Amino acid sequence: MNQDALKQIAAREAVKFVKDDMVVGLGTGSTVKYMIQALGKRLREKNLHIVGIPTSNRTARRARRAGIPIKNIDDIDHIDLTIDGADQVDKNYQGIKGGGIAHLWEKIVAINSTKNIWIVDETKLTNHLGSFPLPLEVIPYGSSQLFVRLKKMGYHPTFRMSHGRHILTHSRNYIIDLNLGQIDHPHHLSKQLDEMTGIVEHGLFLDIVNTVIVGHPDGPEIINA
Ligand code: A5P
Repeated sequence: MNQDALKQIAAREAVKFVKDDMVVGLGTGSTVKYMIQALGKRLREKNLHIVGIPTSNRTARRARRAGIPIKNIDDIDHIDLTIDGADQVDKNYQGIKGGGIAHLWEKIVAINSTKNIWIVDETKLTNHLGSFPLPLEVIPYGSSQLFVRLKKMGYHPTFRMSHGRHILTHSRNYIIDLNLGQIDHPHHLSKQLDEMTGIVEHGLFLDIVNTVIVGHPDGPEIINA
């Protein structure tokens, strides 16, 4: 079974957690794409009324197409549940996100949500985070200086580029990926990156997720973190 099929297994299971009248955070990425399709179908079939809070313009477009009403995060007073993907999830249910450059908005939505569900295919599970490069959203001004500092710290940074140009986030910032290999102390690293001027947000999502839904070939696994 390919990775896409496993993503769909997790995505379809997650939408069962969505109930009438909920405000639902909608993550970003290819797994979330399947979730949005399944959610649109569920709303129609069960006649549910919800409001979706998108974490990217891509997700907003997909939600509209699927018939999910959306609002801006600043126009609601709470989010009941957010369903999002992840790039890696370790054995303590800590994660790396931001492979799709949306981790700043995703983290803002996640920390404002009562409950967070991640949907991942089984290949995303790992003992230690870090083999997936850790994304940083950084302010363009002074980013070359920041890059040098990160290099001296031994974090093997690379700017994320496309056709020789910096990829821009929704907030028109750059992305630097840290090629760390293995992150032994995620909380320590998170604190260190939080304190570095120029970094808007990093992709370590620690102590955020409540439930991880894993797509396996024989069906979904629901893990309460
Ligand atoms: C977006 O920036 C990311 O945080 C995604 O949620 C993450 O990269 C998972 O994406 P896929 O579902 O496409 O693997």
